[in-house]
Amino acid sequence: MSAAGPDPVVLRERAASALLTARERTRALTAFADERELTTQHSPLMSPLVWDLAHIGNQEELWLLRAVAGHEALRPGIDSVYDAFEHSRAERPTLPLLSPGEARGYVAEVRGRVLDVLDSAPVAGGGPLVEDSFAFGMVAQHEQQHDETMLITHQLRSGPAALTAPEPPPAPDAALMPPEVLVRGGPFTMGTSTEPWALDNERPAHPRFVPSFFIDTLPVSNGAYQLFIEDGGYDDPRWWHPEGWEQVRRHGLAAPLFWRREGSVWVRRRFGVVEPVPPAEPVLHVSWYEAGAYAAWAGRRLPTEAEWEKAARHDPATGRSMRYPWGDEDPGPDHANLGQRHLRPAPVGAYARGASPLGVRQLMGDVWEWTSSDFLPYPGFRAFPYREYSEVFFGDRYKVLRGGCFAVDPVACRGTFRNWDLPVRRQIFSGFRTARDAEPS
Ligand code: AVJ
Ligand code: FE
Repeated sequence: MSAAGPDPVVLRERAASALLTARERTRALTAFADERELTTQHSPLMSPLVWDLAHIGNQEELWLLRAVAGHEALRPGIDSVYDAFEHSRAERPTLPLLSPGEARGYVAEVRGRVLDVLDSAPVAGGGPLVEDSFAFGMVAQHEQQHDETMLITHQLRSGPAALTAPEPPPAPDAALMPPEVLVRGGPFTMGTSTEPWALDNERPAHPRFVPSFFIDTLPVSNGAYQLFIEDGGYDDPRWWHPEGWEQVRRHGLAAPLFWRREGSVWVRRRFGVVEPVPPAEPVLHVSWYEAGAYAAWAGRRLPTEAEWEKAARHDPATGRSMRYPWGDEDPGPDHANLGQRHLRPAPVGAYARGASPLGVRQLMGDVWEWTSSDFLPYPGFRAFPYREYSEVFFGDRYKVLRGGCFAVDPVACRGTFRNWDLPVRRQIFSGFRTARDAEPS
């Protein structure tokens, strides 16, 4: 940005604090007394935790020590072991991985050097990588993304609970809320060209015309999803995308991942604890196919990505797109359930202070929300700083999720932030809300 951009001291402090927050979380997620917990593969869908740990350090070294500061490699030869594109998650346990002790030493050594680099790195006029401390923000986001990945590994791991956290806030006025709101047709600005740490796929800001639609005020709850199950939703191909139906048949799916029927009640396993499924909580661990099937059964559909972002950012009073549903203020603990403060979503209707101008709640935090849209570039997209962050995933294979979840740090989620995954995935912290067309008005 320009000379009028943020103060270098403020930017460096923001970067240092984002890196520190990420590292504290990484430490908590890898703090096992028994180191075998770090080296075993808890699920073929995931890497051993010690791979994520050293990969975090390796990406930090590549971008901040080598690309920004021009340093030599600290551990020549390890890059390929920690290159996510060279080795699938399934094969990572067979690689010559750094031991837990070596991995901890490596990430600490990288971080020590990075803080020295940050002290003297320019924040303007030094090229796009360091402009507004972008590379430092990108690396902090990358670590937080792997902290979410590691939390998914914790959820998939068997054995007693290793993590605890306080309960999220209640939803006292949920029953008083209208079930849906009308978002009037018209243009809005999608994406961003001004958010300093926005990643390449969120750029640039561009106009989108979105016809009138209705969107759920709240995410779909477990209680509502149970009605779909009890109505035979998993036995009726009418509601399902053909590939989703194929999955249901092949794997005998009958409920969200981690649910189990015990007599007449549904229970679920959550971070090593088995508990009754709480009816008021947003449904979690459903695939894009399950979300779409529920919506079809309810006579509705998933929102498109543009509809979701308009509901989350457009302020009808000013016509402007805001950074978050509640305005431009950074997320605080009263706005949204983010940052692994709680290890579950809050009940639907919580976080009144995080509501959008039209009264839509919990767009940010709690559960990632599936949209109907393929992951595609915005007009004017340019891959930055590497094609493998976004560009290689564009196309119809991946579906977009929006809004972050309880596992995501505020640094790695914004009104413009785009996540994506395969439509069969359900170990991720995914839920949804529904929408429907409205007559033009
Ligand atoms: C944006 C969450 C899909 O975890 O695969 C991590 C983020 N990219 N390391 C992923 C990412 C490179 C990515 N997602
Ligand atoms: Fe990564």
